[in-house]
Amino acid sequence: MKPYSQILVIDDDPSNREAISLLLSSTGYQVQSAASGEEALDLLQQNSFEVILTDLFLPGISGIDILKKVKEDAPSSSVILITGKASAETAVEAMKSGAFDYLTKPLHFERLKVVIAKALEKTQLLSENFYLRQQLRGKYRFDKIIGNSLAMQQVFSRMEKIVGTDSTILILGDSGTGKELVAKAIHFNGNRKDKPFVAINCGAIPAELLESELFGHIKGAFTGAIADKKGKFEQANHGTIFLDEIATMPLHLQMKLLRVLQEQEVEKVGGNQTIKLDVRVISATNANLEDTVKRGRFREDLYYRLNVIPIKLPALKERREDIALLARHFVQKICQESGRVPVTFSSEAMRAMEVYPWPGNVRELENVVERTITLSDGSIMEVADLPTDIGQADAGSQEPAIACPKVTEQGIDMPQFVAGIERDLIHSALALTNGVKARAADLLNIKRTTLVEKIKRLRIEA
Ligand SMILES: Nc1ncnc2c1ncn2[C@@H]1O[C@H](COP(=O)(O)OP(=O)(O)OP(=O)(O)O)[C@@H](O)[C@H]1O
Ligand SMILES: [Mg+2]
Repeated sequence: MKPYSQILVIDDDPSNREAISLLLSSTGYQVQSAASGEEALDLLQQNSFEVILTDLFLPGISGIDILKKVKEDAPSSSVILITGKASAETAVEAMKSGAFDYLTKPLHFERLKVVIAKALEKTQLLSENFYLRQQLRGKYRFDKIIGNSLAMQQVFSRMEKIVGTDSTILILGDSGTGKELVAKAIHFNGNRKDKPFVAINCGAIPAELLESELFGHIKGAFTGAIADKKGKFEQANHGTIFLDEIATMPLHLQMKLLRVLQEQEVEKVGGNQTIKLDVRVISATNANLEDTVKRGRFREDLYYRLNVIPIKLPALKERREDIALLARHFVQKICQESGRVPVTFSSEAMRAMEVYPWPGNVRELENVVERTITLSDGSIMEVADLPTDIGQADAGSQEPAIACPKVTEQGIDMPQFVAGIERDLIHSALALTNGVKARAADLLNIKRTTLVEKIKRLRIEA
């Protein structure tokens, strides 16, 4: 038993109330009691009780009214109702309204103790879950995804549009660009946030096991299937399934996956019963899926089914103006976690990071920041503190290569692309000159007034 658990006993019959209170406090609980529903509501306002034990029939506010109020205000608390007559109807109503259990008078004290212990266990579990969910929600708030660049603003605006819907999403991007982070943020900010988020990495599970991992199996379906097993789809029911590295899925399973998505129902391996599903599907890949389709390794119909709304995450080298922001974000996070006073990067070190190509994208940047901070005792990180290849990147290439996109049949928004480059250059110049515009304008070989005008037009935070 958890010590000091708070229990509220509500009964208008004084002898009952006292007998129950005495029994529970002698068992070690902290007990308060109320003689009416009104008095109970007052106490509920002032204190939080893990378990509320209430008589059903009270003059005025009834036990069911109290139950409903508790479920609204403190859904983790458990309410046990005590009824005078064993009436099936009241019991059903009580359970429907969310009562943990109901007991009939005369009370059997041993049974009461058992029910209270179980109710406490449930309350504890629910509040832990609630706490964990709060934490998760905090962790995956949109503003925890860092990025000011145009490319990231487009990602955010798409995320805002789809977060409240159930649409199927395909997240594309190189390794370490934040695909899983975005998938979780969509789930934990959407309508399904209180329901499960179940991730499965299709590339990490041997092909012969993947089918039963996804769809479940029944006992005896194959050697080693010693018991029935729920698949990830069933576990994710009413929530979201995240199909990571979808491009690696074997062709024969793609067929089955397509059927599951179309029918919104699943059949376990070896079984013949269908289970209705209500699952939001978010998949992700760092492969060029269109190419995989062309090469015959991915079904075209499945590709269209998954690619209802694509979200393309830019590589870090395509949004260099976010590098400093991300580095500072990770410094703060890492120093906070390790209880260290936040450190800074010297402007040379920051510049070295801004020109390095980051093949491992944000994940690599996060690791580099962590390694650099951990291995250095100082408060300013210099180029020498960075891994050598990053330090050399600055010396080797003064000018970061700009990836110029090919113009295709779909066309390209040239003003937007050029604005992106201007924005990148202005950001770097301002970073290098600590925000001194005259110096930055010199470095960019433009007039200061032109720079100011561009900063305003491009809405750059200077
Ligand atoms: N925009 C961002 N802001 C803050 N942190 C980010 C951002 N993008 C990625 N990260 C962090 O970088 C790390 C890698 O991100 P994530 O695992 O989501 O990448 P991924 O695209 O799924 O990579 P992979 O393809 O290798 O699985 C995580 O720790 C994540 O929190
Ligand atoms: Mg991932």
